[in-house]
Amino acid sequence: MSDDSDLTAVIEPREVFDRVGGLPAFERLVAAFYDRVERDEVLRAMYPEDLEPGKRHLALFLAQYWGGGDVYDRVRGHPRLRRRHAPFPITPEAAGRWAQHMAAAVREQRFDAAAEALVLAYVERATPTLVNRLPGQEQVLPPGLAVLPQQPPGHVPGPPA
Ligand code: HEM
Repeated sequence: MSDDSDLTAVIEPREVFDRVGGLPAFERLVAAFYDRVERDEVLRAMYPEDLEPGKRHLALFLAQYWGGGDVYDRVRGHPRLRRRHAPFPITPEAAGRWAQHMAAAVREQRFDAAAEALVLAYVERATPTLVNRLPGQEQVLPPGLAVLPQQPPGHVPGPPA
């Protein structure tokens, strides 16, 4: 087994960029992700008519996040992802769809196992932080309330009705 396929390899997040093949690898990942977004009626409705600028920005963001320099910051400024996502009604369901499509797109890339594990863990961790609406409600949730469970904290479920 080569080092690249060693599931136990410990790598730094910033090493991911080089390990997966630099910006072109993130462009391919984003293209695979957007193919799925285009076929998802809930998500497609949230995205603008022209998907190309968003694709570019997401690829640059991910490349930067995983150690590929600071091009995103230079082109778009500080990510401020919650603020940038506030216009979109990201319910837990929408976030779940996003995360599912992104995870599928990541797996399709055949990154080496250590890099894939890091990227998948990031998707799982980061997506819920962008939830900003409850289903059927217009009000934008403040950060931190975004991932509240269905019941208030401390709620003890009663016996089934
Ligand atoms: C790990 C989670 C996520 C990350 C890292 C992420 C990252 C980004 C980035 C970097 C952009 C481009 C910002 C810019 O214009 O500079 C973006 C745009 C966008 N994101 Fe996300 N996002 C995440 C989750 C979500 C979720 C859960 C949704 C919806 C369910 C969503 C919907 C959108 C939409 C609609 C845009 C605008 C695209 C456009 O203007 O073309 N994102 N996201």
